[in-house]
Amino acid sequence: MKGFISGLPKVELHLHLEGTLEPELMLALAERNNVALPFSSVESLKAAYQFDDLQAFLKLYYQGAAVLRTEQDFYDLTYAYLERCKREHILHTEVFFDPQTHSQNGVAFETVIEGIIRALADGEACLGVSSGLIMCFLRDLPEEDAIETLKQAISYRDDIIAVGLDSSELGNPPQKFERVFAMARNTGFRTVAHAGEEGPAEYIWEAIEALNVERIDHGVRCSDDPKLVAYLAEHQLPLTVCPLSNVKLKVFEDIGSHNIIQLFRQGVLVTINSDDPAYFGGYLNDNFLAVAKAFDLTKQEVAQMSENAIRASFLSAERKQQLQ
Ligand code: ADE
Ligand code: ZN
Repeated sequence: MKGFISGLPKVELHLHLEGTLEPELMLALAERNNVALPFSSVESLKAAYQFDDLQAFLKLYYQGAAVLRTEQDFYDLTYAYLERCKREHILHTEVFFDPQTHSQNGVAFETVIEGIIRALADGEACLGVSSGLIMCFLRDLPEEDAIETLKQAISYRDDIIAVGLDSSELGNPPQKFERVFAMARNTGFRTVAHAGEEGPAEYIWEAIEALNVERIDHGVRCSDDPKLVAYLAEHQLPLTVCPLSNVKLKVFEDIGSHNIIQLFRQGVLVTINSDDPAYFGGYLNDNFLAVAKAFDLTKQEVAQMSENAIRASFLSAERKQQLQ
């Protein structure tokens, strides 16, 4: 199974670039940019990667992201992930970035995006990995900040395929961002949102009804509402599920209690993704393998998961057909 998964052509749809910041690069950039970190070794950093919930993780994730300061830093981060894609046989990836995280650290929007888009272009030209860029709004910040961020993105309209919504979910329902998502759609951006990771099924309904999203990121709490599961299956609205992330953040106790296969068998268009692999101890192949082993999947079922991701991607119909 391990060899089968490694060789399977794959697509990733839920990956935070800042979540690919490996401890080695984090420490190197902290030194390069003179940013103080409360960790001095790879071992002490890795030892700190034990989380009780999403909030505990986000604290470390934002602390880590503060070492990213220059265009070259964003280039290096992004290119290192694309090299990983090449090794894992990921042919296409749709990646998130959080510009507000960096503007809070005094880093300009242009610095962040110029580094990322240069790496994505090189990744396609030199590694053959195609990509799409998704700009996420931080949901724990006010809607006005998201609107400001959207305005900055207008001049990069051709470089960004979609907007998304991430960060602390509880207490920050999708509805809070209804206007900015409408503005984004009117500008021609596609839309996705994190919903139902820790938050209730109601937040998934809101993401669908108030934000009009084309995919739900995580969405695993849909199981609390059978009508919602039926809706997702009927409309083939994709979920970008991140199994190892959900275990690390205690959304599920262990991989065997995860609901991904239950949803799969209920006809929901589920996909497997890695979320923040540098923090959760596994890239895409590890996520596939963990699910395949825990549920004793057949090769055909594993291949179906990969097929689902191709279907759920923002690629053209023509490119989807090439990948299938
Ligand atoms: N930002 C990075 N990873 C995230 C996650 N799993 N949920 C919400 N926001 C995030
Ligand atoms: Zn995520």
